[in-house]
Amino acid sequence: MKFNLKNGLLLGTATAATQIEGGDENNNWARFAKEGKVDDKTSPTRAADHYNRFREDIDLMAEMGLKIYRFGIEWSRIEPERCVFSEEALAHYREMIEYMLCKGIRPMLTLHHFTNPLWFEDMGAWCHKNAPDIFLTFVEKVIDTVGDLVGDYITINEPNVYATNSLFYGIWPPEKKSMKALVKAFSNMTEAHIRAYELIHTKRLALGKKREETLVSFANHLRVFEPKNPKNLWHKFASRLSEYLFQTAITEAMMWGKCRFPVLKNRGVKRGKYYDFIGINYYTRSTCEGIADGVREGSDINDLGWEIYHEGLITLSNRLSDKYGREYPVFITENGTCDNSDAFRARFVYDQLKLISETDNRIERYYHWSFIDNFEWREGEAARFGIVHIDYETQRRTVKQSGKLYSSIIENRGVTDEAYNEFVIPSVYHK
Ligand code: BGC
Repeated sequence: MKFNLKNGLLLGTATAATQIEGGDENNNWARFAKEGKVDDKTSPTRAADHYNRFREDIDLMAEMGLKIYRFGIEWSRIEPERCVFSEEALAHYREMIEYMLCKGIRPMLTLHHFTNPLWFEDMGAWCHKNAPDIFLTFVEKVIDTVGDLVGDYITINEPNVYATNSLFYGIWPPEKKSMKALVKAFSNMTEAHIRAYELIHTKRLALGKKREETLVSFANHLRVFEPKNPKNLWHKFASRLSEYLFQTAITEAMMWGKCRFPVLKNRGVKRGKYYDFIGINYYTRSTCEGIADGVREGSDINDLGWEIYHEGLITLSNRLSDKYGREYPVFITENGTCDNSDAFRARFVYDQLKLISETDNRIERYYHWSFIDNFEWREGEAARFGIVHIDYETQRRTVKQSGKLYSSIIENRGVTDEAYNEFVIPSVYHK
């Protein structure tokens, strides 16, 4: 064996509804694509047609031995107009979850993953003063429909990426460039998370579930920020400030209800502990010589130019455990890489899981992003993250070499010499 998987570590994959389902025209990303704003001119209305092919995909997950699966549901399908709920969409998701369960896969449901129904988008979405109430109405309907089946929840995915890209840099819909809008969204998302956390627990207790059978948190996009030159005071200051503004303040607000600029304290927010696990989405490190992201010179990079830096995940996991409590498990709710031809993903998986398995941390679950190639937001279909390849023209699925390695790691609880020779040796990073 090259290494044994950390004791008890569960492996699975993550996806998001809009990125794989196809078919839905009623959300802000479908409209953005229709306006020709996605770089490669593709649209999430095609994607992997998972809405119709979920059985085939879940069968494949089961064949690959995946034990856990984090997935999203499309708010705009469920609530196509404000307070009008689609029984068809709700029944669809219930059926999908039942199918996962009967295949022995443990579901983790994400309630919001970047996309908004058009009616919500057009009223200002997360900047609207009633956004938390509106979101809570949707959450309640979802829990009333599938709450008996699902115990693991992510309320909101990456509020920081959503708010910075959509409202501050203006590169995602609705293309705003406003600090005021970012502050409103952060504050409303914090309230929405906290109230959803409480609502889910209350509803599940009422269903007769024990408190520990329900695990709720949120998934933040976390990076390690480092100064380009550690002796340069401006680089040091810029890296600390970026880290604080991008992730520290919003994480403290959502986890503890501790609100500091750029998060304001809404009336519905009280101090407390609003997490049952520490959720980390991790992709890369930011090397700072100013407020924008930078990449360390000479480092291995992925096909989107992001540095491959596995140690960062361990650093973050330990840092968050120290801060938010060693008694909470850490779930890596996303980790993966853009590798369009699957040239180095097997090595990426190998290196990351080896480090998780050999170092001291509280990581108990690892959800690889992504199960299947997905519509990668602004980059469209061009950027591939899946361990399963999709031919978008034929919708044919093919397990990649990295996917075969992942399966073999699950089956053998580690990397065998054969798997290493077959999958990892030919897999090489690039600069
Ligand atoms: C998001 C995913 C995205 C992935 C890769 C995360 O920021 O949650 O939706 O596809 O990163 O960029």
